[in-house]
This record gives sequence, structure tokens and C-alpha cells, in this order.
Amino acid sequence: EKGGYDHFMLKEIYEQPNAIRDTYRGRLLADKGIIKMAGVDDNLDRIAKANRILIVGCGTSWHAGLVAEYIFEDMARIPVEVEYASEFRYRNPVITENDVVIAISQSGETADTMAAIKLAKEKGAFVFGVCNVVGSSISRETMAGAYTHAGPEIGVASTKAFTTQITVLTLMALKLGKYKGTISNSDFRLHLQALEAIPKKVAKLLQSDKVIKEIAATYKDARNCIYLGRGYNFPVALEGALKLKEISYIHAEGYPAAEMKHGPIALIDEEMPVVVIAVRKGHYEKVVSNIQEIKSRKGKIISVVTEGDVEVKELADHVIEIPETIEALTPLLTTIPLQLLSYHIAVLLGKNVDQPRNLAKSVTVE
Ligand code: F6R
Repeated sequence: EKGGYDHFMLKEIYEQPNAIRDTYRGRLLADKGIIKMAGVDDNLDRIAKANRILIVGCGTSWHAGLVAEYIFEDMARIPVEVEYASEFRYRNPVITENDVVIAISQSGETADTMAAIKLAKEKGAFVFGVCNVVGSSISRETMAGAYTHAGPEIGVASTKAFTTQITVLTLMALKLGKYKGTISNSDFRLHLQALEAIPKKVAKLLQSDKVIKEIAATYKDARNCIYLGRGYNFPVALEGALKLKEISYIHAEGYPAAEMKHGPIALIDEEMPVVVIAVRKGHYEKVVSNIQEIKSRKGKIISVVTEGDVEVKELADHVIEIPETIEALTPLLTTIPLQLLSYHIAVLLGKNVDQPRNLAKSVTVE
């Protein structure tokens, strides 16, 4: 049942090229230059004219929502807020009929996310679901939706659900952007082609597993770890830290790289591994200077860079290369090595990777 893999988590990490492909198959029609998504098509005006989009979710699904915030604002020019479902539901939020709420949930059974949906519906918002489990409670409670086609996710730590959620949300943002005219036709096509190229790039990236295993062996006894990223890759830093915490029980924190100097930098010494996402897009030079700050305080730098990088390579203790892609799609690649790093550390520490202590696959109580 694990298809020859030692754990479901590893199997699911390796399934990502296919899971991403299955998620855009039949939706992304690159030759025609269109995106077909029934749940969006049927409500296109409603969603495109939203005053704002509110995204709710928990854990990894919330992180996918944070990535989506960047994508939606960039491509569709609709203001986005992302909230933990557990906070949203109890804080008397201002919601109107002109709001669209997107609820993200792999299991479709998360109690807090469900409660947030019910509250949003009561206030008249249009509620759209992004779920993986077909026929789940959340997929039934939402007014429209788009499934991720990741296939069953058994490992408690969410992996392929995250990348397929980002895939669905990217398709949605592109579609809205095209409809609204906030993305040019050429940019739209460029994104479609780049998205179609992602599965192969993920597959290639999975081949760097050996390098990551060696890094895992070097840092498995660390007590703490910091993850940094900026822009589209800030949420990936949060997700990387969550993966490490939940399966290896090593304390980890994710931060936007520039926040370092507002406090966390005090933690840096020669004992501290710092995972930095420094892809050659967006804020590259700024991240390089963040890396220099860590280096001058003797922190150990594990960097995720774009193939062919030279600048970061000179500074970092370890380098993991990802294939080139357009900025908005980099999270689909940068996430992969972070999943593998947590996996290998947890295995080396002898932890129960698929069923970490104190955790359940779907959290049906608040
Ligand atoms: C992390 C993890 C959890 C879930 C969270 C939401 O690896 O698995 O943080 O992401 O419990 O679950 P869903 O997406 O099923 O609502």
C-alpha cells in the first residue's frame, strides 16, 4: 500500500508531479489559452466583482492561503485577507454580501474551518471551497468549489495537499485575472506554460534527495531551526518550519527574512541552522544581505537557490538548487526540499513520521 516507500509521507512527496498534473488536467487548456473550472465559471461575475476575498483555513491549508494572497492580489487585483479559521470564527468579523470567502481544507472535515464557513454564509458572503476529499463535509457546505486531485493523503503531515491547493488557487487567480483584464494575454499564456512545466521540474527536484539526506544527517541533533523567505516564499518558510516541528519535534520558526532584525536575529549563533529560500526572483538581493547578516553571526546556512546561482553559493554552508520558473510558481518547487528535509530528519531520529504524537489527520474538534 505504500508502493515500495518506507512511509506514506515519502510516497506522497514523490506523488507530487502526478498530483499537480492531475489537479490542472482538464482545467488548464494551454493550446486554447483558457482555464476551465466549473465552480468558478458558474460564478465568475460574483467572484470577480468581490470587494475582497477572505481566505480561511488551518495549518498547512492556511499556509496555502497565504501563498494565494500574493497570487490573487498580483494577478486578479482583488484585495485578499487570510485568516486562521479558529480566530475568524470567534472575532465578530466584518463580512458583507460582496465578500467572497475561500475555505481551504484537505480533509474537508476541519471543525474550525467548517464553523468559519457557516458564519460567513450567515452574513451573506459567497463561500467557495478548495478541498481534497470528495464529498467531505466542507465540500458539501460550500456554495461552489474546486477539488484538488491529490488522491488520498494518509501521512498526517500534509505534503501533496499543499502543492495541489496552490495549483488550484493559481488557476483560479489566473482565470479571474484574465476575466478582469488585470493580467495581459501574453502573461496569462506564459503562466499557463510555466504551470504545465512544473510537474517535470518537481520530478527533477526529487532527484536531489541524496543531498538533502546528507544535510538532514548534519543537523538532525539541532534543538532549533529558523526558516526564512520573502514574498511568495515567506509562506513556504512557515510551512517548512511546521513540517519540521510536527514530525521531528525540533522547535522551528518561520519568518519573513526581513523580520529577522526585529528580534529573531538574537537567536543566531553557531548552533543555529537557518534555512533560507533565496531564489533568483523577487527580492533576491535583499535575501542575500539577510544571509550575510546570519553568516556574520556564525549561523549555519542551508539555502534553497535557483539553478546556476553563484552569490548565495559562496555564502551558504549547504545549497539545494531548484529549476528556474516564474516567480509566482516558485513555492511549488521550493516547498519540495523542505518537505524532504523534515522527512529525513524525522526518520534519522527514529520518529513516527506518518503518525506524529498528539496529532490527528483531520481535526474534527475545535
Ligand atoms: C500539517 C497538517 C495540518 C493540517 C490542518 C488543516 O502538516 O497536516 O496543519 O494542514 O489540520 O487540515 P485540513 O487541510 O484537512 O483542513
